[in-house]
Amino acid sequence: MTITHGGVPSARRPGTAPAADDLSPAERLSVDELRARQLRRLQWTLRHAYENVPLYRRKFDDAGVHPDDCRRLEDLAKFPFTTKQDLRDGYPFGMFAVPRREVRRIHASSGTTGKPTVVGYTEADLDVWSETMARSIHAAGGRPGHMVHVSYGYGLFTGGLGAHYGAERLGCTVVPASGGMTARQVQIIDDFGPEIIMVTPSYMLTLLDEFERQGIDPRTTSLKTGIFGAEPWTEQMRREIEERADIDAVDIYGLSEVMGPGVSQECVETKDGLHIWEDHFYPEVVHPLDDHVLPEGETGELLFTSLTKQALPIIRYRTRDLTALRPGTARPAFRRMDKVTGRSDDMIILRGVNVFPTQIEEVVLGTDGLAPHFQLRLTRRDRLDHLTVLVEALADTAADRRSTAAVEIAARVKDGIGVSVDVEVVDPEALERSVGKIRRVIDERPKD
Ligand code: DLL
Repeated sequence: MTITHGGVPSARRPGTAPAADDLSPAERLSVDELRARQLRRLQWTLRHAYENVPLYRRKFDDAGVHPDDCRRLEDLAKFPFTTKQDLRDGYPFGMFAVPRREVRRIHASSGTTGKPTVVGYTEADLDVWSETMARSIHAAGGRPGHMVHVSYGYGLFTGGLGAHYGAERLGCTVVPASGGMTARQVQIIDDFGPEIIMVTPSYMLTLLDEFERQGIDPRTTSLKTGIFGAEPWTEQMRREIEERADIDAVDIYGLSEVMGPGVSQECVETKDGLHIWEDHFYPEVVHPLDDHVLPEGETGELLFTSLTKQALPIIRYRTRDLTALRPGTARPAFRRMDKVTGRSDDMIILRGVNVFPTQIEEVVLGTDGLAPHFQLRLTRRDRLDHLTVLVEALADTAADRRSTAAVEIAARVKDGIGVSVDVEVVDPEALERSVGKIRRVIDERPKD
């Protein structure tokens, strides 16, 4: 990262494009230079994985491929996928490619079932992570000297520490608030005056409610930018947060198996999808059913191959996140990915129709008189699955508006998505609040 401001806040406001000399050298590469670098790094990664991780050696041998078979980037398609199950099977350290004593840090993600997946980082890996996170915060409008309030959870989750070290690397002042103790977070933001907040979008909503509860108009705070990720969120949610807090809301994506936050980042000047830091994380999109690689612009399952990771090289990792790749814009050499609106795991199949929670979010946020807080309850009646949308009314919404809003939501879900749902408009504050990643779907169906 070229840090040219000597720790003094830049005069440039967030929301405007950085000058070219304010970008890191990697962000100034041409596409040809980037592809050449990727190929070299990919060849190294395949060899490193094959030589040091028995699981990769076995998988490559079974598929009849060898690292020497990778002569062009397209050759990656010959190599086998890696899944979350592979990491689980190797629990805890079976996928590490370096001796444990060279691992400087461990993170883990709990997942919904079974053992957590464990990931590790060497010193060089942590350095790359800080650099890509610093790039992300910079792309969001952060500059040396800004104060960054981090409300992602600290701990085994990668959000807090990932954001933390990236913000320090950029030259920011970090407030490691972590998640929870919402009233105190609001007070700290009010007293300390950060320009940037990094938090899940659902917890940002909880914080906004708390500002209002304490009689503080969130539009009057020092915050200029929110860097939101770790869960799907929609353009409607962006508008809701931007308007309520008078900030720029930009999207950050990542996953622990690949690194953590900062695998890709939306640039504040364009807000048009997330630029993937492709010099370290190589993306592919495959058809979710027949697994063939899809061209740019087509939506499928996102895969990543790490290009520089030492401790945990990851080859064609199946993220289960659905997106499409697009050409670069604000960072021309780096391809973008569409906002991830769902994971194949979160998809509800309701009487044969696929429903993503984000589709319901769009409808809820587009209906007057309702708060942006909703939950989806899945039940079974007469051997058929039923989905109930529980959504909170705003405090000043009259009873008759509540009933018409419920009817409107049910009609718009039926027209737009093609399924019948029940809708219950509940009292303000009736639903559980997020303090991190939100759980949207409560599955109350009997286990068969
Ligand atoms: O959630 C890392 C992270 C922390 C990203 C903070 C951004 C901000 P995991 O706990 O391993 O890591 O969960 C990764 O979360 O596969 C996606 O399904 C989802 N996810 C992450 N970012 C986004 C996003 C972190 N911006 C999983 N939009 C991923 C949609 C996201 N989904």
